[in-house]
Amino acid sequence: MDIHSYSRPDRVRVRHLELDLDVRFARRILEGSVTLHFEPAAAPELVLDTRDLEIRAVENAVGFHLGGRDPILGAPLTIPLSRGAAWVRIHYATSPGASGLQWLEPPQTAARRHPFLYTQSQAIHARSWIPLQDTPAVGVTFDAQVRTPAGFGAVMGARMDGDRFHMEQPIPSYLIALAAGELAFRELGPRSGVYAEPPLVEAAAREFADTEAMIRAAEELYGPYRWGRYDLLVLPPSFPFGGMENPRLTFTTPTILAGDRSLVSLVAHELAHSWSGNLVTNATWSDFWLNEGFTVYVERRIVEKVYGRERERMEAVLGRRELDREMAGLADSDRALHLDLTARDPDDACTLVPYEKGALLLATIERAVGRARFDAFLRGYFDHFAFRSITTADFLEYIRRELPNAVPLEEWIYGSGIPAGAAEPHSDAFARVEGGWPSDTSAWSTQEWLHFLRSLDRPDMPHLECAFHLTESGNAEILSQWLLMAIRAWYVPAFPKIEEFLCSAGRRKFLKPLYSELMKTPEGEARARRIYARARAGYHPIAQSSIDGIVGPPG
Ligand code: BES
Ligand code: ZN
Repeated sequence: MDIHSYSRPDRVRVRHLELDLDVRFARRILEGSVTLHFEPAAAPELVLDTRDLEIRAVENAVGFHLGGRDPILGAPLTIPLSRGAAWVRIHYATSPGASGLQWLEPPQTAARRHPFLYTQSQAIHARSWIPLQDTPAVGVTFDAQVRTPAGFGAVMGARMDGDRFHMEQPIPSYLIALAAGELAFRELGPRSGVYAEPPLVEAAAREFADTEAMIRAAEELYGPYRWGRYDLLVLPPSFPFGGMENPRLTFTTPTILAGDRSLVSLVAHELAHSWSGNLVTNATWSDFWLNEGFTVYVERRIVEKVYGRERERMEAVLGRRELDREMAGLADSDRALHLDLTARDPDDACTLVPYEKGALLLATIERAVGRARFDAFLRGYFDHFAFRSITTADFLEYIRRELPNAVPLEEWIYGSGIPAGAAEPHSDAFARVEGGWPSDTSAWSTQEWLHFLRSLDRPDMPHLECAFHLTESGNAEILSQWLLMAIRAWYVPAFPKIEEFLCSAGRRKFLKPLYSELMKTPEGEARARRIYARARAGYHPIAQSSIDGIVGPPG
């Protein structure tokens, strides 16, 4: 049972969708229909998830009833079925405030010429733009037709053929994705390419030049890439995440375009989801670590193959340190891998624990059983559960059979700490940048800069700025780390940059720590409120809801 869905796939299971949608920029709505195909139902009714949808009519059904709106779950749409019915067609429109859609005005895009629309369905936002069984336990295939005004391209995470789209492998609802705007495309390799707004597409193609090497690295480890093409879409800066693993079309933030490929482990991460997540899917959001922990582990293996062991070690150490930092402030129940999400929105429970503690568990098992055996295990796991949704209990049953007694699994998964005997990532390069004033930073990588900055206890901000001009850094990871330190140290010369950054970036991972740090002092709080009042309208609904929880809702 998935507590985040009203649907009852145990009674009627939807197998295929046909979407037919018009993108109406002026009214900020999608309108059209979805046809849901299912096995001739024994059950008398079909229950779907919706949020803020206007349901206009339902074909091939006895009627419909839209229930009351729950703040987290939205409203159940109950459709009484005629006997033997195998499909229904729902005519509907989205609302301008749909939680899974962001409608951008031209000034919020790079080319500033056209508006832009994109979807973000994970975790439970697909229901705000399609009435469906919005649970990761159900996989559907789909065909779609999406009409846009002239001059706009529409893209979906699917096989694309003009304005028609086809997804032939079953995927969960949270992976259904659409974007529309002024887009250019560059080939990257035989089966990969990048879409971006025209002013960004060349830089994006340079940044992502190693994509085919990453796909090959992943295939050597875990078997063939099963989705045909692997393309990327660079979104405008308000995209609330670093990346989103929509099948065949990863969505990314433009903040990874650092110019030196130093942040492309994010591509390795989203690509890794082609195995962990998109092929073997968490059945509920409490099992989210099965998606993200496995993906961070696989991401690091890809990074090691493509960029070498030292780069992988550095990233593992950065992850380990950030995990400790975050865990220190979490309730015990949020430090377990398997999450208790009772009465919670899965968006609010997204911490580093499923990511980094999950990856650490897998690294620890790898060390216990040896790399060769663990590689064979993982490959077998992906094949065994391919195109299925599984729970933590399914994983436990499988690993207990394949790799008995490797590590104390119960403690890792249900306990609130990092068990004794956990693997401990180490980087020699990092040991050299810790403490003291650096002598020569000319060859430092982004990872070394981050580690150096985070290792400073009471940083001498003016001295650092004078030597390294960090306020002007074009690397979003380094800049956000520096700005965080500037708030802590109340380093006033960086304040205009803090405001500029908070008003232009929309990535939640950068926004949350900066606003939280500001809120720790009365002067900071006043500043946070003033900046947020200006910035809020440009944020994605998901980021707005997170920052509302930190700064307080708009007055
Ligand atoms: N699937 C996640 C993004 C996500 C998680 C969206 C939960 C909605 C709810 C994606 O794969 C991810 O983990 N992105 C990370 C980047 C990654 C390199 C850790 C991000 O966005 O920061
Ligand atoms: Zn991920």
